[in-house]
Amino acid sequence: QATVGGPGRRDWSTWPRYEKAALGFREYWYPVAWSRKIGSKPRAIQVLGEKIMLIRDGGEVRALHDRCPHRGVPLSHKMSSQEFPGTWSCCYHGWTFDLETGVLVAAITDGPESPICGKVTVRTYPVQEARGLVWVWLGDGPARPFADDVPEELLDPDAVVVGRITVRDGNWRFGAENGFDDGHAKWLHRNALWTKRVKMPVWSEMKVIRDGPWITRRKDKMHYSASFPGLGDFPKKKWYRRREGNKTKVSLRLPGTLRVKYAEWSHFEWWVAATAENHTYVQLAVMNQGKWRNRKFWLYYWTWARWVFHGMFNDEDRLMVEVTDAPPERLYRPDVSLTEWRRMVEEEARRSPVEEVKERQAEKRRAK
Ligand code: FES
Repeated sequence: QATVGGPGRRDWSTWPRYEKAALGFREYWYPVAWSRKIGSKPRAIQVLGEKIMLIRDGGEVRALHDRCPHRGVPLSHKMSSQEFPGTWSCCYHGWTFDLETGVLVAAITDGPESPICGKVTVRTYPVQEARGLVWVWLGDGPARPFADDVPEELLDPDAVVVGRITVRDGNWRFGAENGFDDGHAKWLHRNALWTKRVKMPVWSEMKVIRDGPWITRRKDKMHYSASFPGLGDFPKKKWYRRREGNKTKVSLRLPGTLRVKYAEWSHFEWWVAATAENHTYVQLAVMNQGKWRNRKFWLYYWTWARWVFHGMFNDEDRLMVEVTDAPPERLYRPDVSLTEWRRMVEEEARRSPVEEVKERQAEKRRAK
């Protein structure tokens, strides 16, 4: 099972919260689907291990726990239907739920006076639609302000936002770590078409610094060639001749959001745990440089960046995320990017009310 922190892994207690977070962190807003893909037919998704049904009703996207409380049938089943405005009826026995509140408003097969009405509720999730995306609050406490979790570039109403949403194999943490991993950027992608014009350093002197809600890789010194004792020089040819100047700024923040800042636009990635073994991979390209340049960027994305960057380049990452099997792991110097991320998670990831209670109970037990 390719999850981080399997049973009995001796050296993992340095990051206990991270170890437990196979299903991600609750109490955050997550992007889960394109708005244009949510219509009057239900769409079943899985977020942080929870099955959710998305549906658009009266122009609003609603999110319900995708399980009928009666006998556990998915409410998103293709035989379920809308019989009354603003409601959704389970296909099995006709229990009918208010889409906004999740309250059972009719149990059709028990008649209009059914005493169970109003006594059963299916869980609903707060939803926001912004920048062409559907965002769902996955938490047990009250939803935080949307802007707390969404990068400022995506709050700009004039920005052009394009991208891909796919479901990929591998635990979400392998995805987040790969995105921010300093060493792989120079090696795994060294022959990628996306970086063909830029000379990739062989290695760099790098620090991870704090940058608002982000941690950022600060490259202090790039080394474009190196002599390895007893082995020879590297590189010998090819990408060594390309121009220097990789000016990208790579940052990561909770709950697992990567930003790569280019001079004019930004690339974002989210790895939203679906189960412990797969995740929804959200890739976005965002720019606001005025109407005409935005249009040019849109064309550039659909004719080039979508295929070469979000396709080929990020597929190299996918291949690694699918096969990573750590711990056990033996880290090296560039992995400070990973350990700083884990440190941020330990110190700052929000706790759900349930987690807080459990931690208080554990503390009391320890104190006895
Ligand atoms: Fe849904 Fe019976 S299982 S109404």
